Amino acid sequence: MKAAIFSVLFLVSSIRALDNGLAFTPPMGWMTWERFRCITDCEKYPKECISENLIMETADVMVSEGYLDAGYEYVNIDDCWSELERDENGKIVADKKRFPRGIKFLSDYVHSKGLKFGTYLDYGTKTCAGYPGSIDHLEIDAQSLADWGVDFIKMDGCNVDNSQMVEGYIKFGELMNKTGRPIMYSCSWPAYFEYYRKPPQVPDYEILKKTCNLWRNWIDIEDSWESVKFISDYFAENQDRVAPHAGNGHWNDPDTLLHGNYGLSYDQSKAQLAVWAILAAPFLLSTDLRTIKPEMKELILNRDIIAVNQDSLGIQGRRVNSGNGIEAWARKIMPIVKEEHSYAIAFVSRRTDGHPHAFNVTLKDLQLTNKFGYIVKDLFNTHRATYQFLQTDEFEERVNPTGANFYKFIPIE
Ligand SMILES: *[C@@H]1O[C@H](CO)[C@@H](O)[C@H](O)[C@H]1NC(C)=O
Ligand SMILES: *[C@@H]1O[C@H](CO)[C@@H](O)[C@H](O)[C@H]1NC(C)=O
Repeated sequence: MKAAIFSVLFLVSSIRALDNGLAFTPPMGWMTWERFRCITDCEKYPKECISENLIMETADVMVSEGYLDAGYEYVNIDDCWSELERDENGKIVADKKRFPRGIKFLSDYVHSKGLKFGTYLDYGTKTCAGYPGSIDHLEIDAQSLADWGVDFIKMDGCNVDNSQMVEGYIKFGELMNKTGRPIMYSCSWPAYFEYYRKPPQVPDYEILKKTCNLWRNWIDIEDSWESVKFISDYFAENQDRVAPHAGNGHWNDPDTLLHGNYGLSYDQSKAQLAVWAILAAPFLLSTDLRTIKPEMKELILNRDIIAVNQDSLGIQGRRVNSGNGIEAWARKIMPIVKEEHSYAIAFVSRRTDGHPHAFNVTLKDLQLTNKFGYIVKDLFNTHRATYQFLQTDEFEERVNPTGANFYKFIPIE
């Protein structure tokens, strides 16, 4: 009887999700796009251009500065890495000036550091920046990825009709599978369906889960608080529709973390980190890790916050309360104590009226039901003692303007 139940469950889960063994928790790593864009002039911008130097130096720093130890393992190139033309065999080739030793060399280098290597393709006729697209070369491109030892592919969706995308992404996934190399598959079609092409279209999330390990749902992030709010709002306003599709092996992707760049204050950087952890978002950094400031480094290496993001239950959290410019976000996490979940709780302030804003909060406001209350741990101030929060308590919170407080609530038995 037990065996029968098990096999039924197994059947159901194998039908519902991509079975390549990857992304049990949201992927963590680094990616070029938000910070380094399509900088290709290495004479003018030697430290910033998309090149093997950038990738190798980043890989070095990810190991020497503790990012790999904390879980950041993927080193991913985005657009603008290839020659403008394929070679005479139809193969895509890395830009000969910027990647003189080719992609296989680079991937071997990244692997030699204990990291994983990712790159970028576009399903259309050309990439967003005008480099060769994959639409007529799916098989040869899937094979190239395997030959190069690629571990992660972002497949973008510029320069192709929405109507062709779903079938095309499925096909490319099958071709990658046939190579025998497990490659984490990041799909962009929902972003084109939901945001970039008018009229908006709702993507089929059941197909997404079967096809991809992660997918960009919405607009590219920009280096600003406006952008963080806009993306947070999409995930909150669509949470009933979108959040349930996240789970082990398949994740919604609100795009990269901005830590270490120019547009977010320290408080705003805390807010993005907390909300992205609640959303079970991929923690992909897009910044110059060679020059990042210590306080930003400390944020992204915060082990307690990484543990929330990587929680093994894989349940995407939600915005559970908002009003007066203060939002509460909650995510069910481990440990489960007597059938009651623990929670990660973030209070995010959108207020700009110039002082830390105080308000009172109860467990009811947070929809937390354990009748014996919770032990609370402050995730941004880990030296702070834990305290108890009972069902009868009212707690005063103070959140900095456009900042966040972030806690773990563990049920009391
Ligand atoms: C290919 O797909 C099959 C069936 O879903 C799966 O068992 C296998 O692990 C996949 N292989 C790779 C390399 O992704
Ligand atoms: C919160 O509640 C306490 C006790 O009821 C009260 O003294 C305090 O003024 C309240 N704080 C705010 C910001 O309303």
